[in-house]
Amino acid sequence: MSLFETIVVALWAMLPAYVPNNAAVLAGGGRPIDGGRTWGDRRLLGDGKTWRGTAVGVAAGAALAVALSALAPAASAAVGVDFPTFPAAVAVALPAGAMAGDIAASFLKRRTGRERGAAFPGLDQLDFVVFSLLFAFVAAPAWFGAVFTLPVLAVVVVATPLLHVGTNAVAYALGLKNEPW
Ligand code: CTP
Ligand code: MG
Repeated sequence: MSLFETIVVALWAMLPAYVPNNAAVLAGGGRPIDGGRTWGDRRLLGDGKTWRGTAVGVAAGAALAVALSALAPAASAAVGVDFPTFPAAVAVALPAGAMAGDIAASFLKRRTGRERGAAFPGLDQLDFVVFSLLFAFVAAPAWFGAVFTLPVLAVVVVATPLLHVGTNAVAYALGLKNEPW
């Protein structure tokens, strides 16, 4: 695989995991997942993790995976790259993993004394990558091995933090997000 092909396949395969966080920002609000519960003197997760944001995030990522699967043959022919399709289990696992990683990060942030919205460099950019890849691997190991080869994984680990920082800065500039991270 050429470097170009590796990069576009990595971005294509991760799109269903990239979109949930942004969809959650747009859809967030309503009842927090932790229901206001605390552990010690801190919230379990905080008001930034809501049922609605999570559900819309997973639905948006899964819908995108279905759409990309439908577009794969045409996109592959047009770009000259072999874009993968997403089996149903993966279409759900990638966005569900992304949301789970984000929630796990909030749990860690609260345990380390960080208030809602506080930055946790490194964790903020990679939490959802690790979990979405893990969920996809568990959902479909053979598919995972075929799509997420070592070069593709390397691109994901390098490109994701850059994309995350970039999209959040744009969301902040547009007034959609309270912090630029
Ligand atoms: N959001 C949501 N549900 C999620 C994730 C995000 O409703 N599972 C929404 C919330 O409105 C949240 C916003 O998206 O405030 C931004 O997400 P994020 O930066 O992950 O949350 P923070 O508010 O910064 O909280 P935390 O410190 O816990 O990350
Ligand atoms: Mg935040």
